[in-house]
Amino acid sequence: MDIFKLIFSRRTIRRFLNKKIDRSYLEKMVQLGALAPSRVNMQPWEFIIVDDKKLKRKIFKNILWGSKNSINKVFADPQYAPAAYIAILVNAKIRDVGYEYEIGACAENIMLYAWSLGIGSVWFHALNREKIISLFQIPTEKIFDSLIGLGYPAHTSKIAKFSNNNYLYSIDESLNLIVPKRDIKTLTYYNIYGHFK
Ligand SMILES: Cc1cc2nc3c(=O)[nH]c(=O)nc-3n(C[C@H](O)[C@H](O)[C@H](O)COP(=O)(O)O)c2cc1C
Repeated sequence: MDIFKLIFSRRTIRRFLNKKIDRSYLEKMVQLGALAPSRVNMQPWEFIIVDDKKLKRKIFKNILWGSKNSINKVFADPQYAPAAYIAILVNAKIRDVGYEYEIGACAENIMLYAWSLGIGSVWFHALNREKIISLFQIPTEKIFDSLIGLGYPAHTSKIAKFSNNNYLYSIDESLNLIVPKRDIKTLTYYNIYGHFK
């Protein structure tokens, strides 16, 4: 897939097939995550690859699906849980504040490479964090940032026209996602702010 199509077609996937992901793919994902740009090349990240069945089950129970969008409860079905996870940690000795930019770039590398392999992803920030930290036995000098859920998609996700300021994604009758995206023409100016082409 060319890079335009890859980025254009990556959407968050929230229900996954019961199909294993090769550990070698997960290792390549973190390898590419760790090659993201970082301030002064500080590379503050560390990763935990999770493919153990028992641990995955415990993690899934600690995902908070958010109340902002009422459809999210549909995704809490363990039958469609991610096939693997990658936890992203920050080494607080390297950087303990302002690391979100590099973690964002790192996570995007992981999710885009996964998608190039046909593996969908969802970036989880809304989690029972205390519980996750204890499940992973993360030492105090390491910050748990977030978790990426990964798996072969059990649904599609389509971009829809953005209107009435409604940014909430929805689902169709087959539980495929519909994700409104703002029209880039309304967000881009030429040379002077407010000047459209
Ligand atoms: C910083 C960040 C945190 C996110 N946290 C969650 C989360 O906790 N749970 C979730 O289901 N999706 C989460 N997402 C995914 C967004 O909901 C998703 O990217 C958004 O709805 C747009 O959909 P798309 O990725 O398909 O374009 C998060 C995304 C970002 C960038």
